[in-house]
Amino acid sequence: MNNCLTLPAPSLREDLSGYATALRSVLRLKPAHQRELHYAVADLSRALTTERGGMKVNYWSTPRNASAYLHFYLPWNLYRLAWLLPSLQLDLRDGDTILDLGSGPLTLVQALWLTRPELRDRKLTFICSDIAPKPLDTGRLLLEALMGQKSSQSNWNIMLERAPLEKALRNNFGKARLVCGANMLNELRAGRGQTLEDRMEELALAMTDACTDDGEILFVEPGTRLGGKMISLLRLGLLDHDMFPYAPCTHDAMCPMLDQGSTGWCHFNAPADNAPAWLMELTNRARMDRKNVSLSFVHAGRTKPAYDRDEVRVLSDPIRLPEKVDTARYACSERGLTLLHKALRFPSGAAVEVDWPETPVVDAKSRAQEVSPRKR
Ligand SMILES: C[S@@+](CC[C@H](N)C(=O)[O-])C[C@H]1O[C@@H](n2cnc3c(N)ncnc32)[C@H](O)[C@@H]1O
Repeated sequence: MNNCLTLPAPSLREDLSGYATALRSVLRLKPAHQRELHYAVADLSRALTTERGGMKVNYWSTPRNASAYLHFYLPWNLYRLAWLLPSLQLDLRDGDTILDLGSGPLTLVQALWLTRPELRDRKLTFICSDIAPKPLDTGRLLLEALMGQKSSQSNWNIMLERAPLEKALRNNFGKARLVCGANMLNELRAGRGQTLEDRMEELALAMTDACTDDGEILFVEPGTRLGGKMISLLRLGLLDHDMFPYAPCTHDAMCPMLDQGSTGWCHFNAPADNAPAWLMELTNRARMDRKNVSLSFVHAGRTKPAYDRDEVRVLSDPIRLPEKVDTARYACSERGLTLLHKALRFPSGAAVEVDWPETPVVDAKSRAQEVSPRKR
């Protein structure tokens, strides 16, 4: 995978713009609610960002919160997924089952419909599971609005399952060609007497068990410190069960972000300015600033890829180094965190071939190995 994030194609951007129609036709907001939607979005956002002590904000518990989620977070999640899904090597075939955990309003399934039109004709079964039943029902209606028909008339068999994720994984032992989820791992907490690492290790085993022999795993999280940590821990757990990262990692060595001394986390950024105008307008009215979107993800499977030891994955935004004219970026490699010089032209998520210096040079501040792109 050369670049894990790509600008959504014009037709996809158009479909995302048209998503407002699906929302309107399914959710039918009363004019008074429509007028105060931006306040509901701002309140929900505040509640989510000031969340303390593991107290979960339940956005499905009140119609106002649910509406804010569906009109704001859901379309932003679709936009972020629209940067990622088109270039992922997902080879889903007729008869495959996809298990979506913490599916909410079927965001990931809707995103697959929008971003991977070649899948629309395949006979796929989606098991969409969540602890909250209401968003699952709403999600199916939204998906049907996109399909322009009842899902029962389409090639996609949509099954809704109300269950905590561990139960959904047990119920579907050995069935799933793809076990996936979006924006849900960061909601999980360690059980009593457990570390977060233990929980992710247990989950990684349960996910692996839910897979078919050729099954794969895909999780996408917000590009926050917590989202990135959950992805790195999941990757670690998956490796313990012989699931190898296909993307974004260019190696199956230790994730440098789990290093005790690491201050960063694995995430990729993309500009927000190609998001639908109506979504930008709602965002501005809610007085929320969106210049970028950011995500962390892992896609893994049982076949070990032929990793290229000279390839690094560009992580962050550019950094200007004191006393240097060139612009550098942090990147991930088999050798750990690297500081990639002359990196201005590479976007976040790019895979870059490098020439390792014969004697390693280590950046004093970050402890990253310094490296330059291979000269063509
Ligand atoms: C932030 S929402 C994400 C929904 C959707 N995947 C998306 O990307 O928009 C997280 C979802 O995870 C669900 N969830 C949280 N904890 C869960 C658990 N232990 N088992 C199953 N679902 C869970 C919540 O009910 C919620 O719908």
